[in-house]
Amino acid sequence: MATARGIVVLAVVAIIGVDFVSASAYKDGDKVIVYVNKVGPYFNPHETYHYYQLPVCRPQKIEHKSLTLGEVLDGDRMAVSLYDIAYKSDVATKKELCKVKYSQNDVELLRNAIEDLYYFEFVIDDIPVRGFIGHLEEGGFLPHNHKIFLWAHLHFNIEYNGDRIIYANVTTKEQMPISLDATSSPIEVAFTYSVRWIPTELSYEQRATRIRDDSFFPKNLEIHWLSIINSLVLVFLLIGFVVIIMTRVLRSDFARYNIEDDDDADDLDSDDNGWKIIRTDVFRYPPNKNLFCAILGVGSQFLALATGILLMAVAGMFNVHRHGSINAAAVVLYAFTSSISGYVAANMYKKMGGDNWVWNINLTSALFALPFFLVWAVINSVAWAYGTTRALPAVTVILLMALWLFIGYPLTVLGGIFGKNYAGSFDAPCRTKNISREIPSVPWYRSAFAHCVIGGFLPFSAISVELYYIFATLWGREQYTLFGILFVVYGILLSVTACISIALTYFQLSAEDYRWWWRSIFSAGSTGVFVFLYALFYYYKRSNMSGLLQTLEFLGYTALTCYVFFLMLATVSFFASLKFVRYIYVNIKMD
Ligand SMILES: *[C@@H]1O[C@H](CO)[C@@H](O)[C@H](O)[C@H]1NC(C)=O
Repeated sequence: MATARGIVVLAVVAIIGVDFVSASAYKDGDKVIVYVNKVGPYFNPHETYHYYQLPVCRPQKIEHKSLTLGEVLDGDRMAVSLYDIAYKSDVATKKELCKVKYSQNDVELLRNAIEDLYYFEFVIDDIPVRGFIGHLEEGGFLPHNHKIFLWAHLHFNIEYNGDRIIYANVTTKEQMPISLDATSSPIEVAFTYSVRWIPTELSYEQRATRIRDDSFFPKNLEIHWLSIINSLVLVFLLIGFVVIIMTRVLRSDFARYNIEDDDDADDLDSDDNGWKIIRTDVFRYPPNKNLFCAILGVGSQFLALATGILLMAVAGMFNVHRHGSINAAAVVLYAFTSSISGYVAANMYKKMGGDNWVWNINLTSALFALPFFLVWAVINSVAWAYGTTRALPAVTVILLMALWLFIGYPLTVLGGIFGKNYAGSFDAPCRTKNISREIPSVPWYRSAFAHCVIGGFLPFSAISVELYYIFATLWGREQYTLFGILFVVYGILLSVTACISIALTYFQLSAEDYRWWWRSIFSAGSTGVFVFLYALFYYYKRSNMSGLLQTLEFLGYTALTCYVFFLMLATVSFFASLKFVRYIYVNIKMD
């Protein structure tokens, strides 16, 4: 594979987010360019190689097509092919593309590729056209004793309407494949092709659905509506219970505390237990304010980012066949929403009386960017060593770094300066005493660990049904188009997190433990751990991914995703708890 690495020199056009449709109108006899794109093992969606890395027919001089950022992130590397196709002109008889002489090495390479179920992807008029490069025939009783065949003839079916191409696919089974077994000597293979033009009534506007429904990859996942509705109902019940119980408990607490207050105001502390007693401690700022505020800042940024991406997806702004366009939009939006993280972090930090705001802003901007960069660097190095098209070309890397350096970072600083200057006082309803109260010990079911398990598991169970679809889309061949549902589930996830966090904070305060700040971060943030455990299950039980590169990519990017889950849910959880804590302490009578 390494031989052709040098080919991958690219012109990257940074048209971001949106893939402009460059499909055009044709006159009869116009040349229709077939671009070759990538090849890769069917079950490893993120392991793709340039088509010309295989020993196939290739032109003397390889001409690359400019790509959008979304396409580059998707691992696309398009180059002009030798296929000579003219608009509306059939090639009925086999036409020769070229002859290739195979050395022993080349044959071995092809055999391995076919054993790994390599498929290829061409692009005709922006339509991805895919097929398998070869064919395995299980033979005999012994495992791994199969016959290997190469498809040497491609038959293109192209549907047209007037002057537009509507749909195209390629079939390989028109002619017997060539056996690659028992070849000790070099062989010569003649590659051929044929073309059939088929008129269709379908209009150009309808072609997206046609392309999606008749794709080489499996159709849209069958959505199990029942299980989704089931989980929605459960979640609503859960939220309902929490709200009802909390309001009842709180009402009786308020009544009790305020009556006690009137009766024996003198020795209040002696017979009064529960959350009221820690009112002089509950607004004691947590240790590590700096990191605490940075988490809230980056979490807020990702909440805005996720909401934005989901809204754009619901509005149909992405090309659903390609994740790349969503990735590109996420990268660009990340840079532009950096001001949010700076603002929230610096604002909170100032309110809590922090004074080293420069360090705070730097920590905020590095909190996600640094882990991301490290993970990406490792994966990209391995991808580069493998020579896959998943390794980003230098131009793209420079572009992305510039995006962070000249937009992301300055915006974080700018947001931070605004946040710091507009921060009021924290405005706590109770004064905090200098000396802190001793914290009584708690039974195991009130420990931090138990809270994290409950606080992580419930939000996780709210999304566990959806998670399968999300993983199958990102790491499998499935297509997912129901962004509306995803948006609802996202809303539910945040609501469940807020409810659980409030309930857990209440329990913690009732146990006279006033260290709810960090606890609220971790109790809900631990959802990320559950998502990661699910990911491991998915990897081993539900997918057919294999190989070092794919495993590394899966684990690396999944860990990052879980980290983002942690940041987002921690932020929701903390702000919900803060609102709740303020509310209950404002509503009790103070001495
Ligand atoms: C390819 O396209 C032709 C013509 O539109 C159609 O008859 C055929 O079923 C398609 N094949 C596949 C595998 O989608």
